[in-house]
Amino acid sequence: MAEQVFDLLIINGVVVTTDETREVDIAVIGEKIAAVEDRGSFKNAQAKKIIDAEGGWVMPGGISNHMQVHLQEPQLFGKGSSCDTFETGTRSAICGGTTTIIAFAPQSKTENSLLDALARTYAKAEGTCYSDYSFHLLVGNPSEQALSEFPILRSKGISSLKIYMTYEALQLSDYQILDVLFEARRHRITTLIHAENNDLILWMTRKLEERNLLAPKYHATSHPPLAEIEATYRAICLSEFIDVPILLVHVSSPTAAETIRAAQTERNLPIYAETCPQYLFLTKHDLDKPGFEGARCVCSPPPRDSPADHAALWRGLSNGTFTILSSDHCPFLYDDTTTGKKTCITAQHPQGHFKYIPNGIPGVETRLPLILSALTTSPSLLPLQKFVQTTSTNPAKLYGLYPRKGALLPGGVSDADLVIWYPPPGLEPFELRNEMLHHACDYTPYEGKVVRQWARWTVLRGRVVWERDGVGLVGRKGEGVFVERGGSSLRGRVRGEEWEVRGF
Ligand SMILES: *[C@@H]1O[C@H](CO)[C@@H](O)[C@H](O)[C@H]1NC(C)=O
Ligand SMILES: [Zn+2]
Repeated sequence: MAEQVFDLLIINGVVVTTDETREVDIAVIGEKIAAVEDRGSFKNAQAKKIIDAEGGWVMPGGISNHMQVHLQEPQLFGKGSSCDTFETGTRSAICGGTTTIIAFAPQSKTENSLLDALARTYAKAEGTCYSDYSFHLLVGNPSEQALSEFPILRSKGISSLKIYMTYEALQLSDYQILDVLFEARRHRITTLIHAENNDLILWMTRKLEERNLLAPKYHATSHPPLAEIEATYRAICLSEFIDVPILLVHVSSPTAAETIRAAQTERNLPIYAETCPQYLFLTKHDLDKPGFEGARCVCSPPPRDSPADHAALWRGLSNGTFTILSSDHCPFLYDDTTTGKKTCITAQHPQGHFKYIPNGIPGVETRLPLILSALTTSPSLLPLQKFVQTTSTNPAKLYGLYPRKGALLPGGVSDADLVIWYPPPGLEPFELRNEMLHHACDYTPYEGKVVRQWARWTVLRGRVVWERDGVGLVGRKGEGVFVERGGSSLRGRVRGEEWEVRGF
């Protein structure tokens, strides 16, 4: 029998997956994981390329399921539009260890079809991505036509969508949410929900305006935790009524997390939840900076009060309340008056007005390094396997990518998507600077933060695309492909076949 020649070997790593931590070597053939064997097993094997991980962690590539790139329509906040394109957003992703992104394909309130939104977004992404990619449909108008297109979405490999309980340009009524959830259940589509009470935010905003309190920090005041808590509970009730799983995205409030926990454990409901680094590292005080500076950290929901809130969310990650730790990458230029944060500085509001500040911050590249750096200093925050689970495996399962993504299963089951980190205890501590990043944004909200981990190598379907100690970015534009997704493999309905959906 001819000697097997591998395309890539990764040796001397500590392989961390959701299920185990082992000193094993990994062999890659073509785009797939061929074998995972005890350390040293491939000593005599032939390989075209060998990476010596030198004791560093080797993990399945990150999946960032919450990305807004080139969100030019609909315009949610004055004139703001995302500064990243699919090209720059996915470039930034791979340089931080993320190999698959799921971005939004936005349908505006004035169009009936979802398929047009999908086609438009696909055309923007095709041939320009550095990472693999898919889309969530962002449903702004659940028209009869849009609802009838759900099976077509599935046939095109799209199995998730996002809806909003806030933002005038996108907000759905509870009635419309029921329509969406019902069709989502029929077609095994995962629904992501942005849960904030819109009227409460509008009311609070008017009260602040009446007192001429317009600085960036009042964005946080206008989006109080109760707006999130109430909408989270309402979303859970609507989901329970229809008997369909949902994912509550970017949860920031510990009380909202408790509400989710109670639904999961006391009512046994398939309620999934996501949190993001901004809710683990930033507080509302980051919005309270001299002049307009605080606008850099304006996102919705806003970062909450104090480190006690962070601690509660870390606990929720450890104990399974949060299924997913995502980036919610939604970057706007800071120093820009045509599409960026400063579009809200006008003749009428020379100091800006919080309600017109584009909501969102960049974070796809910093997500994994920030979290791993925190775990280097405080390992008790989150076990490493949970880190892999919430940043890679669970998103793969929830969004129908598993086990092709989110795992390192041999025999050609999983794609060879890998991120290899520096051996513990990591790099000499250094301060994060925006110049180190590969997005198109002119700032990072984490400027100056001390980190000690970074993706050392990123491998996308068997090819090295990022080599931090070498040339850096080696991946090429267009190397990422669209990945077709199936239904979620996480737990689904509770009442099961008790209802006949078609006769409902
Ligand atoms: C798990 O985390 C959630 C969210 O922070 C919290 O409400 C709950 O009390 C935690 N449960 C335990 C047993 O720690
Ligand atoms: Zn959102």
